[in-house]
Amino acid sequence: MVPLSLLWLVLPSLLGAATASPVQVPLVLPADAEETLPRKNSGLKGRFLHLTDMHPDPHFRVDSAESTACHRRKPKKEKERSAYFGLPYGDCDSPLTLTNFTLDFLEKHWAKEVDFVIWTGDSARHDNDRELPRTPDEIYTLNRAMVQRMNEVFTSRGIPVVPSLGNNDVWRPNSITNEFSKYQDTILGQLFGHMNVDHFFFLQQEDTILLDDDEFTESRLSISDSTSARDDAQESSHSSLAESLMEDFSELPKKAKTDLDDFSVINVGPSVVPNPYLPTFRVFAYNISGVEEDGALEELKKKKKKEKKKKEKKTPKRKHGHKHPGKEAEVDCKKKENRETWACRPKKPQYASPDAPSRTSTLWTPLGYAQYWLPDVGKADKSEKPKFRLEYATFARSSLHPGSGAYPIPLKELPMSLRTANETAEDGQKYMPYGLRDLTIGSWLGLARRLGEAKKGNAKVRAQFRQYMYQGAEQALMALME
Ligand SMILES: *[C@@H]1O[C@H](CO)[C@@H](O)[C@H](O)[C@H]1NC(C)=O
Ligand SMILES: *[C@@H]1O[C@H](CO)[C@@H](O)[C@H](O)[C@H]1NC(C)=O
Ligand SMILES: *[C@@H]1O[C@H](CO)[C@@H](O)[C@H](O)[C@H]1NC(C)=O
Repeated sequence: MVPLSLLWLVLPSLLGAATASPVQVPLVLPADAEETLPRKNSGLKGRFLHLTDMHPDPHFRVDSAESTACHRRKPKKEKERSAYFGLPYGDCDSPLTLTNFTLDFLEKHWAKEVDFVIWTGDSARHDNDRELPRTPDEIYTLNRAMVQRMNEVFTSRGIPVVPSLGNNDVWRPNSITNEFSKYQDTILGQLFGHMNVDHFFFLQQEDTILLDDDEFTESRLSISDSTSARDDAQESSHSSLAESLMEDFSELPKKAKTDLDDFSVINVGPSVVPNPYLPTFRVFAYNISGVEEDGALEELKKKKKKEKKKKEKKTPKRKHGHKHPGKEAEVDCKKKENRETWACRPKKPQYASPDAPSRTSTLWTPLGYAQYWLPDVGKADKSEKPKFRLEYATFARSSLHPGSGAYPIPLKELPMSLRTANETAEDGQKYMPYGLRDLTIGSWLGLARRLGEAKKGNAKVRAQFRQYMYQGAEQALMALME
């Protein structure tokens, strides 16, 4: 089963969430959303946490075999045995030692540094052991235990936790994706945990119209979902998602020809469970400049009104930027057999504005994220605990030290070499090869074009993107197979 969970970052509900009392915040637009905007001394940090796919498994046993979902059978070779904090790059869920360790770490290091938490679900173990079928009771128990701990760590401190709307079993995430991607002006980003692979992709207006649910899943979210990284490496089919993404990116229109109205970005964060890679979480920074000023609110309202007027003037029929090569040859849409084709789809109006926080960095715009990981999870044990470290960040090196205003990442949560403003090019390249100014749609497209164009100057960033996707699985698995 595809562990797909998702959450929509809807601007108004975030505004509500950031100031609401510590209860779960429903993802609906409150009628008085604007009145609940943070005002003076909002105390906002300008950061939130994205946590996904913890998958605690109370049946996990140390020194067990991947083939039993780490429930039984001690392998002869030591390096094939599950470790105290889990089995990296494997097909097993998280031991409670790992989920506890992660939440304890977040409590100590991040609970005071974020405004809210986005929790895109999957709080039960997978049903992947025929000898030990998962029961509804167990799912409830695991969910309750996770919620209780999340509550202790965050909600009880006044930090709202915004849970995922549901998983693949409950919702049809695909059709929601289609619907929500039309609201580029208020939805600033879409966060998923999907197959636990670190990546991003675009949805275009035309994709959302053309594809029905199943096609959508296959075309955009497809990746073999039955195998662990270990299996994949053995079949060396492991790189297919990276390659198809790069290919997609290579087909993007040139900057001058891009209609930004057409695009929305899907961010897929890797998981806490080390299946099939390593435990991770993300800390996003967002723009809070001006939030405490008088009049920020009025400005926002005025802007909205202006946009509404503009939109009314705009003709709903727009031409679209990106053309799928080969698909948009002259098609006679009057012919019956062509009516259902991509070229003849109806073009719906989209809610987009170049002034929206998804397009221009302004109050609420996501500025970037830092991703933390646990590279030594397979080596650590009771006496030698693993360490969360910065894996990479999307920011530019210089933006880590803004001088005044909000620091995107607290300095104490950076590696030593990044804590001073004295830049060394090496560390910038190592931890921050993207150097993105913000996470507006234009910035994402800029990165995608660099990733898509196989020229010499892009070789490093392309290699790093791949490495982040697979989190060193290639090297680790080579060692395993020796
Ligand atoms: C994990 O934490 C829970 C709740 O704090 C505790 O009851 C449980 O014993 C812990 N388990 C392990 C394996 O550390
Ligand atoms: C944040 O938004 C303000 C406008 O409100 C803008 O001037 C500033 O450049 C933005 N900051 C970043 C880091 O993008
Ligand atoms: C920055 O680092 C370099 C090399 O480590 C050092 O030579 C230089 O003095 C440092 N500059 C400042 C302003 O600290």
